[in-house]
Amino acid sequence: MSYYVFGSELTDPYVFEALKKKRIGGYTLNGKEVEEEKKKAKYPEYLGSFKLEDEEKYNNFENPDGAKNDKGHLGSSDFRHLFPSSAKFSTFDLSPNFGTEIDGIQLSQLDDDGKNDLALYLEKRGLVIFRNQDLKDKGPGFSKKFGEYFGPLHIHPVSYSAEDYPELLVTYRKAGGSERYDAQFQERTSAAAWHSDISFERYPASFSFFVALETPESGGDTVFIDTREAYRRLSPPFRKFLETLTVIHTNYYQNKGAQLNNLPAKIKKDYFTEHPLVRTHPVTGEKSLFYSRTFIQRVKGFKKSESDAILNFLEQHVLSNPEIQVRATHRGSDSGTVIAWDNRIVLHTAILDFLQHDTSARHHYRITVLGEKPYILNSENEAASYGHSNGHSNGHSNGHLNGHSDRHPNGHSNGHSNGRSNGI
Ligand SMILES: [Fe+2]
Repeated sequence: MSYYVFGSELTDPYVFEALKKKRIGGYTLNGKEVEEEKKKAKYPEYLGSFKLEDEEKYNNFENPDGAKNDKGHLGSSDFRHLFPSSAKFSTFDLSPNFGTEIDGIQLSQLDDDGKNDLALYLEKRGLVIFRNQDLKDKGPGFSKKFGEYFGPLHIHPVSYSAEDYPELLVTYRKAGGSERYDAQFQERTSAAAWHSDISFERYPASFSFFVALETPESGGDTVFIDTREAYRRLSPPFRKFLETLTVIHTNYYQNKGAQLNNLPAKIKKDYFTEHPLVRTHPVTGEKSLFYSRTFIQRVKGFKKSESDAILNFLEQHVLSNPEIQVRATHRGSDSGTVIAWDNRIVLHTAILDFLQHDTSARHHYRITVLGEKPYILNSENEAASYGHSNGHSNGHSNGHLNGHSDRHPNGHSNGHSNGRSNGI
């Protein structure tokens, strides 16, 4: 069975024209409608129009020292700066394996040590839902600075962004009712688009901070998949085979979709980027399946039928197992929720379960931090030379660590401080 390349229907001129006529959507909003929508938005400063003179201004995002500079190396094993003994907070693990909800810790108040702990915590737990956050109220400049602590920030090729802050990607779905549902599902049965943010970049994202501005009272959640556990569930020989594969990621169809919806382009380029299918985490040493469904085209160097067979298997294996998924809810339209995650070990998709109801807009901005160029360390010797020896010696142990535990694989900081200069 051939593999369905996500969005590939948009290359059919007939389909493209037909969709354009219908402007099939509930997508987000038409790029021409931004000024009009700004009048309705609760946080208009986070809904900017793109200036044509900026076209092609933002290119070539790089982070060659990303693995070495990852702030998780500096995190404390007991997370005492993220959870100081004086703080009153509560935590709830969405599953024992990954995902935690935290109330009572204010992201905007974290000092550098707190941010280092946060990086490591995200690298352990995969994602965290922070409630009652004031990040959005401090203005776009504060969020930009907050994100920059963790690394260079990405500017999305095609998206809305905050006014004068292209680093703050904006997702905006209009308020409305069932007409949105009819439009969205006229041609499809599901709107799920599983991905790891910007995996088409040479230096894809490490952390994303997804800040809720306005959300439906219920619904519009984000669901996550633990790609470390997806990797661990496979048999050793099959893992070994997958570790030899390189896959091609592209934003080609995303660009087509943006064009259809009059979304502004900051960078018009179509990227075709090679990444290993299995990657090693620069801090924990854990391996994960870097299966960014929406952006993956094919397996490099394989005949199409072979590539299709592998990608079809991965689709079924990674995306169809509720045991490795958790759901990050908003809890009301003004919960001050910030969802943060590590794109190297989780996939996610927005959930469009509210379109048939009368709801407010779904409006977020995202701070996207560039990570390292994905790499895989295949042998124990190779791993040891990069300071991953403990993380790899028992393979599974990191993933099973609860983020609250003080057990922490040794050897990260030492091993990494001298091991990253060869371009990995
Ligand atoms: Fe995303």
